[in-house]
Amino acid sequence: MRPLLVVSNRAPVGVDVDADGNRATRRGAGGLVSALRPLIRDHAVTWVASATTDAERALAAAGSVDQQGEDGSPYRLRFVAHDLEAYRLFYEVVANPALWFVQHGLWRLKHDPEADLAGAWRDGYTTVNAAFAAAVLQELEQAPDAGVLFQDYHLYEAPAMVREERPEARLAHFVHIPWPGPGEWSVLPRALSVRVHEGLLACDSVGFHTERWRRAFVESCAVLLGRGDEAAACSHVNPVAVDASGLEAVAGSAAVKEREADLVAARPEILVLRVDRTDPSKNAVAGFAAFGHLLGRRPDLHGRIGMLALLDPSRQAIPEYVRYREALEHEARRVNASFGGAGWVPIDLRVRDDFPGSVAAYRQYDVLLVNPLRDGLNLVAMEAPLVNARNGVLVLSREAGAWEEIGRWALAVDPSDVAGTADALEQALALAPAERRRRIEGIRRRVRAHDTRAWAAAEVAALDARSTMRS
Ligand code: F6P
Repeated sequence: MRPLLVVSNRAPVGVDVDADGNRATRRGAGGLVSALRPLIRDHAVTWVASATTDAERALAAAGSVDQQGEDGSPYRLRFVAHDLEAYRLFYEVVANPALWFVQHGLWRLKHDPEADLAGAWRDGYTTVNAAFAAAVLQELEQAPDAGVLFQDYHLYEAPAMVREERPEARLAHFVHIPWPGPGEWSVLPRALSVRVHEGLLACDSVGFHTERWRRAFVESCAVLLGRGDEAAACSHVNPVAVDASGLEAVAGSAAVKEREADLVAARPEILVLRVDRTDPSKNAVAGFAAFGHLLGRRPDLHGRIGMLALLDPSRQAIPEYVRYREALEHEARRVNASFGGAGWVPIDLRVRDDFPGSVAAYRQYDVLLVNPLRDGLNLVAMEAPLVNARNGVLVLSREAGAWEEIGRWALAVDPSDVAGTADALEQALALAPAERRRRIEGIRRRVRAHDTRAWAAAEVAALDARSTMRS
């Protein structure tokens, strides 16, 4: 078994010190770590991630620590401590919003034309990437043969830094978010876009969730660097898989069953669900507006239908995200004020991080609305149908990467079309039971067929094939 270094900004677990001074770990947030956590079952993994709490910074100073996954699999965890101001510039100015907004087609939301992006890049993004590269280089001293799997938009520069010191290193990158065409990259100073693309081309292999994002990568490498052929040769499509058995186990756990019982006792006759982060790319405002449209045209549904919106508060130190959260809270209030009354609240908006509550709601929805403006994949659309108990219907944006995988079993929406989204919700309610069953079974078959082991094996195989060709 070749050792693997998994390198991501978020760690698979968060570490804190509780009131009694004991070390306490909690599940790491976000889709990326859920998808990658199964790697530790089958590989000798050292996971390298940013320290974001005092306890994690203390662990970073001590080097790597032995950990166990949820199923007891051992792995090593190495936290990287960063200068706090460098990390702020990295996370709050460059990664989110700048890179996130460019890659999700949201640049119009960027409200700070005065910001010194090039300075934040130099003092934040490059500094944090250099700290990751230094940690990886140290790990490679111990295990020169290890495959290095860099993850996501936080770490575009680190691979080139490692390559410079270790030309023979085996480096892979996986981009979990959309890749825009060359025109969209032009909102950034050209020198910065060049660094992004050069960093990725320093890898032996670069993975994407969909052919659409991979093709855009080849095109932007061709236009920006004249290196389209290299990009075509190193890139591959390998949509991340869902840990189906892990999710089913969580859905059957006592904690989730208890939450589900509460939900069943209080649920409306027809439950429309959305589960997201409060991220502008997820398009909750348009989703709430569409639900309002539906209520406007269907008085017969009043009092019988409800939308449950479970939104994880995300990146709340960044003004654009705070503004978006205010906008979605405002829209939910508007719909509730227009249509609610007599004990009926049309949109039940809960902004908190509540994983067991989300899985309980996955069991109970009749319609699941996933309408992002653009999304690398979208795991909610793939996970929730696996455990749903009501043959619920998926209403899915054509702009989610998951569309390529499971779109044929969903009802399609164009995310900017609010009336069209209301049409799709209405159609979902009218589907015959047999048709609902056919659709959800189709999604389940597709998602189960592509398991997490196969995803990891394909990543390692792509890396091995390309790095062997180079050496
Ligand atoms: O790929 C997108 C991602 O990195 C996922 O891990 C997750 O959905 C989200 O972004 C997490 O963002 P943050 O670490 O900023 O909370």
